[in-house]
Amino acid sequence: MVDFRPAYPEEIEQILELVNYVFRTSSGLEPTMGRQFPTFICAENAQNLYVAVDNGKVVAHIGIKKNTAIIYGHKVSMANMGAVCTHPDYQGKGIGTALLHEVFRNLGEKGIGFVSISGTRGLYKRNSCVEVGEAFRYILEKGKFLYKNFEEIRYHVSKGVDEADVLFDIYKREPVRYQRTKREFPVLLKAVPMVHPPVPALTVAVAFADGNAGLAYIIGYETKPGAFKVVEYAGQRMVVVWLMDKLLHDMEMEQVMVEVPAYDKELISVLNSAGLSGVSSYYPGTTLRIVSKENLWRDISPIIEEAWDESLLPSSLDALPGRVADDEAKLAEFLFTGFKRPSYGQPWDQVFPLPLPWPNGLNYI
Ligand SMILES: CC(C)(COP(=O)(O)OP(=O)(O)OC[C@H]1O[C@@H](n2cnc3c(N)ncnc32)[C@H](O)[C@@H]1OP(=O)(O)O)[C@@H](O)C(=O)NCCC(=O)NCCS
Repeated sequence: MVDFRPAYPEEIEQILELVNYVFRTSSGLEPTMGRQFPTFICAENAQNLYVAVDNGKVVAHIGIKKNTAIIYGHKVSMANMGAVCTHPDYQGKGIGTALLHEVFRNLGEKGIGFVSISGTRGLYKRNSCVEVGEAFRYILEKGKFLYKNFEEIRYHVSKGVDEADVLFDIYKREPVRYQRTKREFPVLLKAVPMVHPPVPALTVAVAFADGNAGLAYIIGYETKPGAFKVVEYAGQRMVVVWLMDKLLHDMEMEQVMVEVPAYDKELISVLNSAGLSGVSSYYPGTTLRIVSKENLWRDISPIIEEAWDESLLPSSLDALPGRVADDEAKLAEFLFTGFKRPSYGQPWDQVFPLPLPWPNGLNYI
């Protein structure tokens, strides 16, 4: 009989063997899952790694990393989910679906409101997970793009983790982000979790003001020679764009691609006024599932309260328009989806969608 439960720390090796086989070696790649996810698929996080076990053998896995989103200063308890797989010999028997339901139930009981999932496949969409967010994809090309120069700013490009302290100081000032400790920053930077197939190291460009204060950074890698993809940026938005311009003109890149969440109106306006236009989509490769409406409401009601302009605040999720709260998928779309969003009228359109931290940066799972 197949048993569904959180993993034991001593099962990490078996989990790594399974996820490396499914996501790496079966398609001819190096078994890098342990190296790329050192704070996720590890003994310390075993209690959040859910497994299906048949006669002592791990046959399916769903990994969870509990995270806190910080949205305009308000803490929101959430989780990220990834490395979802069933051993090929056990696929198509309902094991993935059963484990998924076990995970959703557990997360709701543990005080979490929603889970952000790396993946958009049928297994998720059949189970009330929806695409969320809105992002604009910009491509800056050498020859077509030239930004203003800031004489007083210095910058430094490296492949190491030496500047992790400065990056941490810049990231913690972001208005929408994950809670990320100073100790985690260099570990995640070194692990390169979001790049598949993996690359040896990420490139980090940091800008400094006089007196060495960090102003902004961009982190990314070359998808092919001369084509740089930004996976995470933070700090002053004009300086973020200036750094991308430096990659084009000092570092000999031919193009720089960046995806900007729609809530980041400042960066969008800097890029648009420099003559660019972005192409919009959902947050790429991501779905979201609400696991507990009560936990979610507890965490997001202060954000709504702060943004609310009218006298009568919604007192619960049931006060939202069109009975969206009756259905997890509709509720998630109402709260978090910007792309192809229908109008819900005022005051709703002023407050929603709520911003979500970028899922494809260093906290990628
Ligand atoms: C995606 C994955 C985890 C699904 O796991 P699984 O255990 O096979 O999932 P299930 O058995 O619950 O569902 C798979 C299919 O079997 C069907 N099924 C469910 N219960 C069944 C049962 N009792 N008998 C027969 N078929 C069943 C489902 O309808 C589903 O069909 P569909 O997805 O083709 O429409 C697995 O295919 C996998 O490991 N894929 C490779 C890794 C991957 O892509 N992971 C996701 C990263 S985003």
